[in-house]
Amino acid sequence: MLSEVLLVSAPGKVILHGEHAVVHGKVALAVSLNLRTFLRLQPHSNGKVDLSLPNIGIKRAWDVARLQSLDASFLEQGDVTTPTSEQVEKLKEVAGLPDDCAVTERLAVLAFLYLYLSICRKQRWTKEDLELINKWAFQGERMIHGNPSGVDNAVSTWGGALRYHQGKISSLKRSPALQILLTNTKVPRNTRALVAGVRNRLLKFPEIVAPLLTSIDAISLECERVLGEMGEAPAPEQYVVLEELIDMNQHHLNALGVGHASLDQLCQVTRARGLHSKLTGAGGGGCGITLLKPGLEQPEVEATKQALTSCGFDCLETSIGAPGVSIHSATSLDSRVQQALDGL
Ligand code: PMV
Repeated sequence: MLSEVLLVSAPGKVILHGEHAVVHGKVALAVSLNLRTFLRLQPHSNGKVDLSLPNIGIKRAWDVARLQSLDASFLEQGDVTTPTSEQVEKLKEVAGLPDDCAVTERLAVLAFLYLYLSICRKQRWTKEDLELINKWAFQGERMIHGNPSGVDNAVSTWGGALRYHQGKISSLKRSPALQILLTNTKVPRNTRALVAGVRNRLLKFPEIVAPLLTSIDAISLECERVLGEMGEAPAPEQYVVLEELIDMNQHHLNALGVGHASLDQLCQVTRARGLHSKLTGAGGGGCGITLLKPGLEQPEVEATKQALTSCGFDCLETSIGAPGVSIHSATSLDSRVQQALDGL
């Protein structure tokens, strides 16, 4: 079924500004990160298709013959981005998942099977393929968020820096390669519940919450303007504006009810070192970003990372604006990635 090794990856992403507000029709700015998730498909001679997802501890296997009997008829039916319930049932049947299987596992396994059966046979993706990948990623988002804006799947598909407004996505004209810290507070959160919480607060206090959303919209627009003006050598004043925008948005997000004590701690720890942070994504825990100004000495960055790690957080230094979903040749892979894949 698969004749050669296929290696694909997609970038992680963060929302710079506009999370939650984007669900209510405001602008969001999202950027891809130089932190990627890799998938390797490689042929085996044991007559099985094995799935191993080490990060979430999932291992499964299917008979190739069983999958082969499916793909010809299955893939050519109807609209591939909106499978019929019959098609979903067929996939579930082949997947053989237990009834009490977690939603995330169910999703990961079904998405893998779909990928295996269709996209994996391509060696280069056309614009239409990317649209399809984006639409499927959006379906996954729907399962997790309930009512996603579509910004997350879009930025991981196309990469770079995107502006998202009411379903319309455009690339930012210019975007400097900002260095950031991405800190995972490791506090679990439920995006669907947080999005619903903001909606409830808006319904309960429309006169208070609607202006907050309008202000977040203005923050996104101002950030877009400043990023567009930052050239090869950004001026220190431009970084000061970016920092002020981060601070103001973080306060607004707290007022929307999506803050968390762990995120407050993250902001305080970095503030004590003259750095500015905000939550990114749904909030309620999860991740935060810290802007690293140019000229910051590496020992100071390391000390900040250490201080955040001492709080029990995971902290990664990275840059924004990575390529979107990509196919790789084995020889072009970074040796650390190659080692991690070989260790599976
Ligand atoms: O937590 P994340 O990274 O999945 O982002 C959620 C962003 C929201 O604006 C809260 C929801 C959405 O669909 O845009």
